[in-house]
Amino acid sequence: MIRNVNKLFCGTLVLFVCSTVDNGTAQEPLSFERYREVVEPIFLAPRGGYGPGRAPCVTCHAEQGTPLRLQALNENPDGTVFWSEEQSRQNFQIVSRLVTPGNPARSRLLRKALAVSAGGAPFHIGGKFFESQTDPEWRTMAEWVQAADPVDPNPNDIPPRLDFQFFQECVQRIFLDKRPGDVECVHCHDSGSRNFARRIPEDRDFWNQEESRGNFAIARRYIEPGHPMLSRFLTHPLSSEDGGDGFHGGPRRWASRDDPEWQMLAAWVRGEEPECLSY
Ligand code: HEC
Ligand code: HEC
Repeated sequence: MIRNVNKLFCGTLVLFVCSTVDNGTAQEPLSFERYREVVEPIFLAPRGGYGPGRAPCVTCHAEQGTPLRLQALNENPDGTVFWSEEQSRQNFQIVSRLVTPGNPARSRLLRKALAVSAGGAPFHIGGKFFESQTDPEWRTMAEWVQAADPVDPNPNDIPPRLDFQFFQECVQRIFLDKRPGDVECVHCHDSGSRNFARRIPEDRDFWNQEESRGNFAIARRYIEPGHPMLSRFLTHPLSSEDGGDGFHGGPRRWASRDDPEWQMLAAWVRGEEPECLSY
């Protein structure tokens, strides 16, 4: 009985809790030992340069505010660097949330730094590090993810389509909506590289089709269709007490996943057709 409840819970929401805590349902959770032994060193490996595509992952990913937030490194007297086991465990928690156990192809960790031509994500500020899926480092990460039992009931299903119409008519309203004590998304996300809520021209009070397409293209980067809890769009402004990310430069709009607005967005990300909550 309890096992069933757990399973349902794991399958839908708390991928990360379920993949790191042995709760008796997942036979083969993501392995911390393998992570520490073979995956984590990849983040430290020198790549012969600076900046996108050339710097060690950790150069950018131990900075405050970057997703995939790794712990700051310790230095030995001889200049070599390391993470303590405790720090590695914290890294593991973050990294685990960027993978879909049993399914490398749907894991952000695997897709971000992989060339677009090899099936990688369209965009990574950090650049592309792996030319193909035969790259030994890439394979090491993929094998680690593959070895874990899928939490996704249908790992080979095609991810749902993200409905643009709903984004245009409904989701964008959230960007303009002010909650007591908070600032609207548009206030901060109207420019820069995370500009999914660009400034609306003076003579109008909402985005037209073309502008909405532009907003959608940016917001899309933070959404993993089918997986609300792997979608930063939903985890970034969510309270860290209920599974939200450790840091957001803006407010926590949703105190918990029970917030009807969060529920609505989650349904949209899962490819369902929720009713729009109007403001
Ligand atoms: C030059 C800086 C830089 C380097 C080097 C870098 N990244 Fe990134 N990475 C970023 C930034 C900035 C973002 C957030 C914006 C984006 O999605 O591109 C990011 C995003 C990511 C994400 C998405 C995290 C999320 O929560 O969506 C993953 C995964 C990732 N990087 C993996 C890597 C890996 C693996 C390496 C090394 C092989 C690496 N990065 C090297 C800057 C960097
Ligand atoms: C007060 C300013 C501010 C407001 C308001 C704000 N944000 Fe942010 N947001 C930031 C900053 C700064 C960052 C970059 C640092 C970080 O990752 O938190 C960010 C990052 C993000 C990211 C992650 C982008 C990435 O690079 O991975 C998402 C998603 C996001 N915000 C969504 C929202 C949503 C949705 C709203 C409205 C409900 C919102 N934000 C409101 C300042 C804000």
